[in-house]
Amino acid sequence: MASITIRQLDEALKTALRLRAVAHGRSMEDEVRTILRSAAAAEPARAVAAPLDHQPKTDATQPRVLLIIGGGIAAYKSLDLIRRLKERSITVRCILTRAAQQFITPLSAGALSGGRVFTDLFDTAAEFDVGHIRLAREADAIVVAPATADLIAKMANGLSDDLASAVLLATRASVLVAPAMNPAMWHHPATRRNVEALTVAGIKLVGPNAGEMAEEGEGGFGRMAEPLEIVAVLLPLLTPVRGQGLLAGKRVLVTSGPTHEPLDPVRFIANRSSGKQGHAIAAAAAAEGAEATLVSGPVALPDPPGVQTVKVETAQEMLSAVTKALPVDAAIFAAAVADWRPEKQKSQKMKKERGSTPPIRVVENPDILATVAHSKNARPQLVIGFAAETEHIIENAKAKLARKGCDWIVANDVSAASGVMGSDVNRVHLVSRHGCESWPPQSKDAVAHALVARMAQALSEKRA
Ligand code: C5P
Repeated sequence: MASITIRQLDEALKTALRLRAVAHGRSMEDEVRTILRSAAAAEPARAVAAPLDHQPKTDATQPRVLLIIGGGIAAYKSLDLIRRLKERSITVRCILTRAAQQFITPLSAGALSGGRVFTDLFDTAAEFDVGHIRLAREADAIVVAPATADLIAKMANGLSDDLASAVLLATRASVLVAPAMNPAMWHHPATRRNVEALTVAGIKLVGPNAGEMAEEGEGGFGRMAEPLEIVAVLLPLLTPVRGQGLLAGKRVLVTSGPTHEPLDPVRFIANRSSGKQGHAIAAAAAAEGAEATLVSGPVALPDPPGVQTVKVETAQEMLSAVTKALPVDAAIFAAAVADWRPEKQKSQKMKKERGSTPPIRVVENPDILATVAHSKNARPQLVIGFAAETEHIIENAKAKLARKGCDWIVANDVSAASGVMGSDVNRVHLVSRHGCESWPPQSKDAVAHALVARMAQALSEKRA
């Protein structure tokens, strides 16, 4: 068995690894273990799901994307973006800015894209061979990810002092920008002005998302959008691939997040739910060409691109939004709906009274999943429920499948020990009347993608 030590890695990789480890609060060794574990887990997951490159195309008909990778810690996510694009039979060429090479190497981008990586405006060999004008012209769309504040400023002001900015100035293709920077830089008036200028020029933006920053203790808007979110926004820009996803022509409904059941204007009953898994499913369905509707309770997530998002607060509002969105081909109920709501909602804030506690009477909320699954005339072909369990996961999921009348239950372990709640990783079991399949631990995006591939397969076979 070969062994590898962090000391043997090249300096740029070590720096990227160190920053990633700091961002996740892990040691470098633990970070390497985490990366390897998720890479190993991703492979069987793809084998479980239908292959994504289901429609092989010839090189001549493949859409061509030029990916410009800027210098930021999020550059490592762009390596995954290359894979996501290639999975969809998209030809990818890469430019790495000088700053990007502090985080990732041309070798890794080249290995994943399967081609030469361009870095230098004044590389005579490259200029005579491909050249910045050809790079600009031979792309159906250009994606800038991560787009730093500096790169955005150059684009907004038409600077062209390096290969990336020269190509961006020379192109006539659609451009999609995925900003990533510290929240203070994102909110700075200069960046606001530059972003506004890009929008006016018809350049599309995806993200940034809110979340933790690489800098310890910093948070806010500035994280680069996830690779699948970028893919979802990019696909409609690539005319040749429009309407060709796994779920093209299908209508998909997803519920996500918690519901809030108000007691008074400031207090409510709710379940814990970040909405990450439900939002990822809606984004993945849209990325695969579905007409996706997301009915979401209150969450701190941006609306997924390409998805019609309906925001609700209570279970009753969620049921009514879901009913309005029918008919659909598939419905996935990932929301953590509060089981009860206060019988009465006070119009004024309840006052604390010394020595006495208010009697709170609750009534049962409608079961949205069961209502849709048992619907006589509007039942979707595929109805999928979620089961968050802390023990006896599979037995409880099987019982729930029968009780709710759905086709599949995606069961996950949300016990404190699993670390799933609120995190980006999920470990699920897919339970249907045909049996139970346990998927390896993987990111919520990967779960979403695998589930969407499974749904597409089931819808095409007209069975669940
Ligand atoms: O009964 P339990 O809450 O464990 O069931 C979970 C599944 O049922 C999830 O898919 C959830 O979205 C759905 N559900 C619902 N309406 C409720 C309660 C749960 O749609 N009132």
